[in-house]
Amino acid sequence: MPWQCAEHTGAKHEIYRRYLERWFPILLASSNAYPSVTYAEGFAGPGVYSGGEDGSPVIAIRALVGEVPPNKGIARFVFIDDDQRCVDMLGETLLKAFPKRPRTDAAMPVWRKKGTCAEDLEVALDRVQAWGQPIFANLDSWGNAPVPFKLLQRLATNVSTEVIVTLLPQHFVRFVSRLDKEKGDDVFGGDPHWRDVVNLPPEAKSRHILTCYRKALKQRVFHTCWTSNLSPATASPCISSSARGIPSACRR
Ligand SMILES: C[S@@+](CC[C@H](N)C(=O)[O-])C[C@H]1O[C@@H](n2cnc3c(N)ncnc32)[C@H](O)[C@@H]1O
Repeated sequence: MPWQCAEHTGAKHEIYRRYLERWFPILLASSNAYPSVTYAEGFAGPGVYSGGEDGSPVIAIRALVGEVPPNKGIARFVFIDDDQRCVDMLGETLLKAFPKRPRTDAAMPVWRKKGTCAEDLEVALDRVQAWGQPIFANLDSWGNAPVPFKLLQRLATNVSTEVIVTLLPQHFVRFVSRLDKEKGDDVFGGDPHWRDVVNLPPEAKSRHILTCYRKALKQRVFHTCWTSNLSPATASPCISSSARGIPSACRR
């Protein structure tokens, strides 16, 4: 640790950067700004890659600091990771990246905690009193830890909230026979159709998983849902799905 920054990760980070450089100022510094926002990660990582590239927590804080004056609103940051080494390294990385605190503690509280996205993210959001103000939730697992549908549904009912999920269909393709079926169904909002993947030819499997996921999000969770496919020749197909845009930074 840290690990190498894969080619598709660079593309994903560019999406985060561009999106957040609009999201923070729209929500904190525009004429109808909110008093506070929360940026939250359920799979935060150590904040840095082995080549020195910024990880998503650093990208998010840079987007805030670069685009919003320090006296505009409160920006909370919540970082959860289930590996204590990542949580510790993230602390060190943030100190190195921002040696002089860019905002006061009160204007930019940062909460780091070892835990799982499924069990600890919602609790952390309760604790920092994020609900009722906009949240940007970045749920970027390696595909090994599905995101609970109930968490997405709660986020979707929160004001001006956006979620970006990285889904690796290969996880569901590979482990369909070994995954706890009900846990698998939960990822797709309880719809068991994703399991039909077993009967499909190899070239149709990933597409099927992505279609089921998109359908579940569109029908049962979010008003707006866009997807982008990050699939360099050397990596497994991966999709990021971002949702619910009021206002949608990407559409402006
Ligand atoms: C893809 S990396 C995150 C990379 C980070 N978002 C970035 O772009 O810099 C996934 C992280 O999730 C953590 N992780 C794996 N399973 C988890 C779980 N169930 N809950 C929380 N974190 C988990 C891993 O330790 C790893 O740091």
